[in-house]
Amino acid sequence: MTRQTIACAFALAALLLAGLPARADTIEEKAAVCAACHGEAGVPVDKSIPVIWGQNEGYLYLQLRDYKLGNRKNVSMSAIAEGLEKPDMKELAAYFAAKPWTALGQPSAPDDVAHHAETIDNSAGCKGCHMADWQGDSTTPRLAGQGLQYLRETMAQFRDGGRTNNPWMVALLKTYTDSDIEALAKYLAGR
Ligand code: HEC
Ligand code: HEC
Repeated sequence: MTRQTIACAFALAALLLAGLPARADTIEEKAAVCAACHGEAGVPVDKSIPVIWGQNEGYLYLQLRDYKLGNRKNVSMSAIAEGLEKPDMKELAAYFAAKPWTALGQPSAPDDVAHHAETIDNSAGCKGCHMADWQGDSTTPRLAGQGLQYLRETMAQFRDGGRTNNPWMVALLKTYTDSDIEALAKYLAGR
């Protein structure tokens, strides 16, 4: 755990003890809880936390639903989703999807790494679902410019059984080596 993750976990504990998710009324109050980790202006406070500002609405909603149902598991997010009802999740998804995507300023992948990632994309057809420019659509997530460390970790989780909420992604990632995942993560982070 990094220092930020620990600070973040304390912030979460304090918020949960205060009962904020349950009592918050306005969307701004509900979203304030999220800012403790996902950032005040779209830049997450820790590199293992994904950007959600500007992410696609249907995708955001499905992830919150999956955390609540236990189909996707994470210590922080499972606790957060526990306190949310369907209308809250819909409202939060619409709220964050309408925010601008914030560039993290990650470097473009070097040519050999980009070539490796593009070769994988050509055979797997990632962009058939994640769309040209990796912007995603509706329930398919945007990948362009997502945090490097998060991309690396979530792809490894699909592959190794830590994230099972999408059978297609699990089956696909199973065929990849660490070096494939590293190339894809660097390539996507730098888009
Ligand atoms: C204590 C820190 C913390 C708080 C507070 C928090 N999150 Fe998260 N969130 C995370 C982490 C860490 C992940 C990545 C978890 C994983 O790998 O499954 C995440 C993942 C997500 C995802 C999945 C994104 C993706 O690209 O798959 C969504 C959606 C999300 N959070 C929404 C929210 C919303 C909405 C709130 C407020 C109601 C919130 N989060 C509050 C830490 C937090
Ligand atoms: C058949 C359509 C399809 C194809 C092909 C596909 N994906 Fe996905 N991908 C999805 C969907 C849908 C999700 C959201 C899964 C969920 O709801 O958890 C996803 C999720 C992801 C995520 C997680 C994003 C996040 O914010 O957590 C990554 C990373 C990803 N895909 C990378 C890839 C890569 C790299 C390829 C090609 C090697 C690829 N995908 C091919 C449909 C696809």
